Amino acid sequence: MSSHDLAQMRPRRFTANGPLKGRIRVPGDKSISHRSIMLGALAVGETRVTGLLEGEDVLSTAAAMRAMGATITRDDSGMWHVHGVGVGGLLQPQQALDMGNSGTSTRLLMGLVASHPITATFVGDASLSKRPMGRVIDPLSTMGAEFTASPGGRLPLTLRGLSPAVPIEYRLPVASAQVKSAVLLAGLNTPGVTTVIEPIPTRDHSERMLRGFGAELTVDVAADGARIIKVRGEAELKPQDIVVPGDPSSAAFFVVAALLVEGSDLVVENVGLNPTRAALFDVLRLMGGSIEELDRRDVGGEPVADLRVRHSLLTGIDVDPAVVPSMVDEFPILFVAAALAKGRTVTTGLEELRVKESDRISAMRAALELAGATVTETEDGLIIDGTGGDPLPGTAEGTSVVTHLDHRIAMSLAIAGIASKRGVEVDDTRPIATSFPVFESLLESARA
Ligand code: S3P
Repeated sequence: MSSHDLAQMRPRRFTANGPLKGRIRVPGDKSISHRSIMLGALAVGETRVTGLLEGEDVLSTAAAMRAMGATITRDDSGMWHVHGVGVGGLLQPQQALDMGNSGTSTRLLMGLVASHPITATFVGDASLSKRPMGRVIDPLSTMGAEFTASPGGRLPLTLRGLSPAVPIEYRLPVASAQVKSAVLLAGLNTPGVTTVIEPIPTRDHSERMLRGFGAELTVDVAADGARIIKVRGEAELKPQDIVVPGDPSSAAFFVVAALLVEGSDLVVENVGLNPTRAALFDVLRLMGGSIEELDRRDVGGEPVADLRVRHSLLTGIDVDPAVVPSMVDEFPILFVAAALAKGRTVTTGLEELRVKESDRISAMRAALELAGATVTETEDGLIIDGTGGDPLPGTAEGTSVVTHLDHRIAMSLAIAGIASKRGVEVDDTRPIATSFPVFESLLESARA
């Protein structure tokens, strides 16, 4: 980080300030918000989106789709209107597409551009420029796109799409919804059928939403449990009215906060509980957390409920690595929960966490240690010996934890801070705005 960036950093000490009570509502799901804008931009006619997450990552997607021809506006009621160009109709962007911090924007948009006759350059911040893009470059190259990437297959990179592209059958070498989605989105403007085989299921919002927009998409389950997803290309997408459910990955911070802080009894409303996303809540229940689902319902084709969460003494467990894809973004906050549990929590199979917005295994190990937790780092996870319910000591005066431009590290340590004796000093809260701009104000209102 340059000295200029250092001057811009926004540090904050998060301290204990009583229980979390009442009802809060978290913003819209980030994955569904990205896809609403992208698919709306490929439909002919007007897609209307209510509850869109207005975080920096989603705004990066919106800016990129505008640069490729879509008209995207927000009205005074907060509803978003997307007028699409039609599949095959994306225009040549006149400038580099700035993806900010957003891996989802980058990888999914690379899929869209790959099968259009246009060339786009993708740039991003220091965090995104370290992340591997080879995982999407590989299949999209097989479909005919050409890439000039920075060393190691990273941003900045330039992609020249091919139209017509070549349909492929691709077996995912990593469990990644972003890679799956990139190939399916490339398949939308490719003649014939594009197939993705997913040995381990990952979040299925792309499949649900592509179907909702009228694409011909099928999902079969093979004898070995792999999911075989086929999309027919040269699709015609029909505009939709979308209601985006609350983001379970954002709700996670408040659920853990209420479990950890004595006296808490909080309802988090409108939480998306798609089974490919919601494993954290099951793991926390296994640890003894009191999390009750109220008013389970359907919002925009996704299961949703209000979660009533009460302070609980948690017990450490061995987390089954099979659940990793369904809570891949929730490990940083699970580590915080484990740090206050009774006994040992062991996590394994978390290699993918090392290539998120930061290396979340080593970033969380270092940060939790500074806050006084007992943590051992392994190649593919953390082992945490909890306090047995006592608050963490917190960070010493003048010492702050390092967030590495990673929103989830910042928010996880904020929650560690409110469950600590001295508080936790976070070096930079700016990254929180990528996914959860109202996090700090909601935290205050839940503790008022
Ligand atoms: C996402 C998929 C996940 C997740 C990310 C959002 C998506 O990434 O970490 O925050 O919207 O498809 P991977 O697919 O790389 O695991």
